[in-house]
Amino acid sequence: MPAPQQRRIIFKHIDVPGYTNDLACYVRHGGYEMLKKAVAMPPATIIDEVKKSGLRGRGGAGFPCGVKWGLVDRKSGKPIYLVVNADESEPGTFKDRYIIHQDPHQLIEGIMISSFANNVKQAYIYIRGEFPHGARILEQAIAEARAANFVGPNILGTTYGCEIYVHRGAGAYICGEETGLIESLEGKRPYPRIKPPYFPAVLGLYQCPTIVNNVETLCHVKHIIEMGGDTYAKIGTPNNTGTRLLCVSGHVRKPGYYEYEVGKITLGELLNEVCGGPLPGRKFKAVIPGGSSAKILKFGETFTLKNKDGSSRTLTVEEIPMDFDTLAACGTMGGSGGVIVMDDSVNMVEALANINAFYAHESCGQCTPCREGSLWMKKITTRMVHENARSEDGALLKSVADQIAGRTICAFGEACSWPTQSFIAKFGDEFKAYPEAKKTPKADGALELV
Ligand SMILES: Cc1cc2nc3c(=O)[nH]c(=O)nc-3n(C[C@H](O)[C@H](O)[C@H](O)COP(=O)(O)O)c2cc1C
Ligand code: SF4
Repeated sequence: MPAPQQRRIIFKHIDVPGYTNDLACYVRHGGYEMLKKAVAMPPATIIDEVKKSGLRGRGGAGFPCGVKWGLVDRKSGKPIYLVVNADESEPGTFKDRYIIHQDPHQLIEGIMISSFANNVKQAYIYIRGEFPHGARILEQAIAEARAANFVGPNILGTTYGCEIYVHRGAGAYICGEETGLIESLEGKRPYPRIKPPYFPAVLGLYQCPTIVNNVETLCHVKHIIEMGGDTYAKIGTPNNTGTRLLCVSGHVRKPGYYEYEVGKITLGELLNEVCGGPLPGRKFKAVIPGGSSAKILKFGETFTLKNKDGSSRTLTVEEIPMDFDTLAACGTMGGSGGVIVMDDSVNMVEALANINAFYAHESCGQCTPCREGSLWMKKITTRMVHENARSEDGALLKSVADQIAGRTICAFGEACSWPTQSFIAKFGDEFKAYPEAKKTPKADGALELV
């Protein structure tokens, strides 16, 4: 079967030979024309177009972008800030970094249109500390855009002006969580804030209304202005509009970046036809479809879903369309678009030990269930791998995970417990058998623990 065609909107130019990340090249390819169009539009119309487009956030939660903009408190008289989430901290996700390196002006144009629409005069790009090259590229691109009057005071001869600042984080997963990010931007420890009352749209940066959007989300805004919200909404599938970037890593022949209309490609097509299938002599065992915190899917399991007309349908893992709603109905999520593939060489206890070590390291420590629970999950899985494993450890792990989710300040509680809950639910037998399996040396070798 031929691989389904990519629909490249965000990556339209990125891999074209000769396409460079400087302003002249961007302008030659039609760059900043949509900013010119947008500043001649009433800001409320831009927000309406984004609402009509159905664009959902590409950072993790898939919240509708236009609805988020509509929630901003515009009556407080305080400044409104735009914060661009370029922390890209979810393991398995590497798309925002690529946009920043290859096409920074696409992001800057998206930021300026979004800022104009929301009357933002100061926008911040919060970029993770491990991306120094990306931060330098952004600083250079902003300087170029400012010199050309696309950024700064009185852009394009209008009375509107907006500055963009690049803020480098120090490299912590929790700085990707929007309220932790805001605390960090204010120069404090990135302790996530309690919602309510600290919904960024009302009480965000410096206690002012703040929009936090992901890099990829903001890049889509320019294309919505170009084609109009209604036309954009026809791309993808209902309620799952537009294209999205999928980052495929792990045990496939062709890992990499791919851009598809949301819901127009199934997991099976993506992994087998686009990514070339499993490695020689191997079979797919499991896949995490939306970054390491998304619940794992096991090849061979099926899902019975309700259709709108009341009938039902059964899907295999391979048949799941890569859209927000179907993935959620199958008990997982599209999340950040990071698709992590594991073949039959992977021992699930060792894979979970690796994931748990990450989450225990990254908990900010404010909430007892998360601080203690993530550490205990790490301790148990590390003990299982490096010391003695017991057949009842799976049940013990599950009981710890079950006491975290839903009892914490931020969604990190879910992010750290979902891997354990789903690994145990789907690979419980492997956890039970691990003490015996450990006695037999493996041909493939285990995953290295961080
Ligand atoms: C623990 C945690 C880590 C997160 N990391 C990121 C991240 O690295 N990048 C990102 O865009 N969103 C991340 N998010 C989601 C953000 O909190 C926020 O929802 C997102 O930036 C909003 O942008 P969007 O609506 O455009 O997706 C994270 C959320 C949690 C709970
Ligand atoms: S859930 Fe975890 S990361 Fe989030 S605030 Fe609580 S301790 Fe910090």
